[in-house]
Amino acid sequence: MKNGSVTVYDKDGNLIRGYEDMPPQFLKGWAEFYKLKFKVTPDVLIPRPETELLIDEVLSFIGSDPKTDSMHTQSAQGRTLILDIGTGSGNIAISLAKNLPKAKIFATDISEEALKVARENAKKHRVEKKILFINSDLLSAFRRPEPRLNRGELVSGSNSEMPKRVRHDGFVVPDIIISNLPYIPTYRISYLEPSVKDFEPWIALDGGSDGFDLYRKLFQQISHKFLPSSLGVNVTHTGGVVVDRHAGKLELIVCEIDYTQGEIAVIEVQKYFPTAKVEVKTDLAKKQRILRISF
Ligand SMILES: C[S@@+](CC[C@H](N)C(=O)[O-])C[C@H]1O[C@@H](n2cnc3c(N)ncnc32)[C@H](O)[C@@H]1O
Repeated sequence: MKNGSVTVYDKDGNLIRGYEDMPPQFLKGWAEFYKLKFKVTPDVLIPRPETELLIDEVLSFIGSDPKTDSMHTQSAQGRTLILDIGTGSGNIAISLAKNLPKAKIFATDISEEALKVARENAKKHRVEKKILFINSDLLSAFRRPEPRLNRGELVSGSNSEMPKRVRHDGFVVPDIIISNLPYIPTYRISYLEPSVKDFEPWIALDGGSDGFDLYRKLFQQISHKFLPSSLGVNVTHTGGVVVDRHAGKLELIVCEIDYTQGEIAVIEVQKYFPTAKVEVKTDLAKKQRILRISF
């Protein structure tokens, strides 16, 4: 780290050492998100307020107005399976688990260090039995089965935790996919605030040349692996959690995007999901931020 060291005291008078420009959340070791406290370390992105809009979007889809497209999932609320891709500190998965007592959540990240923090946060908030954390590059841990098998997705056994928790005959099609993948175009990273570019993990920021590389890959994988929606999942967790004979049908994808990406996002969605309804919504600063895809 390039900056000079600084000394800070927390509210109880404890001495904390850090570096100039270090985000206060890293100095304190926690950040607030959706009214919950999450442990954060330099291995994870500090949760941002605008990401809370993704949670609102999913909660309103599942439970609010029966006249809207929430109807299908609402009727299946007790069995909703949600996939959070790029979970970081686990803030999205855990906030959903706290607000949807009956939902089951799979949360993935390519970074094992981030998953360690996410697991700790899940334990702290007592939702560790509702969330399966999976180390995966996008959907690589979800394998398409051989044609002779049923349609659907087979969860691969690449994750060391999985053999204990998921039987390998599990077919997975989530009802909802939620994701805040890195979306900053590479060239812009060096112009970001020092508190971001010098302290937050590069792997949580870099979205490739136009910032949309990871979402493009993700959409391609979703269209290949989860559509047309299959018969559903048959996944058994040991350790007290059971997702049994889940009738999955992908209904909704919600992603956070960069404020410059509304147009490219719609083009890519139309390419991979030509029959889906696509909307780009703005955040509180009126910047394009939420990509909503419904089927
Ligand atoms: C922008 S951060 C979001 C973290 C958290 N979900 C949030 O909203 O605050 C993106 C996360 O995606 C993860 N990630 C990056 N590339 C990935 C990939 N190819 N597959 C899965 N996760 C990835 C990063 O490690 C990071 O934790």
